[in-house]
Amino acid sequence: MREDKTHFGFKQVDREEKAGLVKEIFSGVAKKYDLMNDLMSGGIHRLWKNKMVEQINFSDATKSYTTIDLAGGTGDVAFRIAKKARLKNVNCKIDVVDINQEMLDVGKDRAVDLNLFSDLNFTCCDGEKLCFEDESFDFFTIAFGIRNFTNIDLALAEAYRVLKPGGKFLCLEFSKVNDYFLQKIYDAYSFKVIPKIGEVILKDRASYQYLVESIRKFPTQDEFKKMIETAGFKNVSYQNLSFGAAAIHVGIK
Ligand SMILES: C[S@@+](CC[C@H](N)C(=O)[O-])C[C@H]1O[C@@H](n2cnc3c(N)ncnc32)[C@H](O)[C@@H]1O
Repeated sequence: MREDKTHFGFKQVDREEKAGLVKEIFSGVAKKYDLMNDLMSGGIHRLWKNKMVEQINFSDATKSYTTIDLAGGTGDVAFRIAKKARLKNVNCKIDVVDINQEMLDVGKDRAVDLNLFSDLNFTCCDGEKLCFEDESFDFFTIAFGIRNFTNIDLALAEAYRVLKPGGKFLCLEFSKVNDYFLQKIYDAYSFKVIPKIGEVILKDRASYQYLVESIRKFPTQDEFKKMIETAGFKNVSYQNLSFGAAAIHVGIK
């Protein structure tokens, strides 16, 4: 592919065009984003997010922790972290950061409804150029966000920059199913059923066509692990979820 081009699903677009196209997609789906997640995954995305948040270990109850949830969207991951911190009686400041204000606005309303608003800051900012100082955070989480970025390497470099030494990077993303027959079933479901759900519920087939295509274009578990290592992270590992339909990558700064 030419250097000035990148993929947007299965299409090739100019690099500077992609962020705008991604923004349009999430602006269009923001209000029904959470409902769509439940419908498309049968609620499984909740279990995957819980698995990621299990790896946030507030080991010192006397310490004040800082967490950034990048591409935090409507707040699903941040709410889980905030609830965990409250349960453990730990002080944790959580920044929910996303490039899309509409997604954050839905998140703010949900935070108010869940009585979690006081634990969270919502910031509209590009994950490829984060508006935070070096070494600001103990934890960096990103769920189902990074495959939408134009420059994944830049986002990983930013994650490294804003984490404190010893800080933990956690990324939950769709990945590659590791069984041939399950892959075939998953493909049929992804390409035939998911765009149809988008069409029926949101009158928007194209956004969900992009979703399934973007999943197929994302690097494999091992390729992504190498990218995280190249960004400087140590002890990088991953855990497959649901036969690799999703994976959690972990790295330490
Ligand atoms: C599929 S949603 C995930 C939302 C949430 N993390 C979740 O798991 O429910 C992807 C999010 O990534 C955000 N995003 C895409 N590109 C971004 C970028 N360059 N910087 C920050 N956020 C970005 C989108 O606006 C969208 O809210």
